[in-house]
Amino acid sequence: MDQNHNQLLPALQDLYLANNQVQVWQAWLDCSTQELTDYYDLLLLDEKARASRFYFEGDRNHYIVCRGLLRLILGTYLGIKPTRVEFCYGKHGKPALRTGLVEDNLEFNLSHSNGLGVFAFCRGNPIGIDVEYIRPMPDEDRFAEQFFSDLEIAWIGAHAGAEKHIGFFKIWTCKEAFFKVSGDGLTLPINQVVIDLSRSQSVRLAAIDGNPEQAARWKIVTFEPTAVFQAALAVEGQDLQVDIGWLSP
Ligand SMILES: CC(C)(COP(=O)(O)OP(=O)(O)OC[C@H]1O[C@@H](n2cnc3c(N)ncnc32)[C@H](O)[C@@H]1OP(=O)(O)O)[C@@H](O)C(=O)NCCC(=O)NCCS
Repeated sequence: MDQNHNQLLPALQDLYLANNQVQVWQAWLDCSTQELTDYYDLLLLDEKARASRFYFEGDRNHYIVCRGLLRLILGTYLGIKPTRVEFCYGKHGKPALRTGLVEDNLEFNLSHSNGLGVFAFCRGNPIGIDVEYIRPMPDEDRFAEQFFSDLEIAWIGAHAGAEKHIGFFKIWTCKEAFFKVSGDGLTLPINQVVIDLSRSQSVRLAAIDGNPEQAARWKIVTFEPTAVFQAALAVEGQDLQVDIGWLSP
């Protein structure tokens, strides 16, 4: 894989991440048996051990491919072999680069759902990403009443059909991406992170714990990898260029 990964993933050639840039990569996680073996070979022992604990083969394979891709991308940014990338983990499992290995201030996060992986990278700005497969949610209204803010509940109540359904997943992924930045789990009630979908062009973080000024420091970007996936990125800092691309066709 070391020799030919640029062939497999042309997007990784000449990869460069500027200081004010966020790069998001999307990739399908299903692959051939040979590719799966190649990705597996990139993993370290603890990751192989974790892979062996998955009950379902599909989940195991997606984990392996996700980790392999993460290593390939990080290795390219850092100019080291994918197998040299070392992780440490936050209290609730958020992976980060182990310091001391490289001088970099590379921040990253990833998410996967139903065979699709999304990976977000930037330099120095805390970042979180979430993707969800858009599936039927028969209890959407009840879920919103329980977990969403008044502004979000009002938006959900004012919309119907597909627009409402997609809006629901937009709000959900934005909240999840925000909580994934710190990786500390739910440090405040979910309904205290307020997402504003009222502007047709862009999504906005309207308030955090009742504080609009604090919320204004954050950039929230929603995107749709395909018509059946909703994804969102949360990053601290406003003056950032966000580029979203595919690793695989
Ligand atoms: C741990 C948690 C982030 C996992 O979320 P998920 O939707 O099941 O999984 P995702 O695919 O989005 O993300 C998983 C990846 O995020 C990373 N991750 C793991 N723990 C993390 C954490 N605490 N914070 C940020 N990223 C984390 C890992 O790389 C993981 O991939 P891996 O398992 O292949 O290593 C999530 O369960 C959580 O704690 N959320 C808190 C906020 C919440 O409850 N929101 C509800 C919003 S309505």
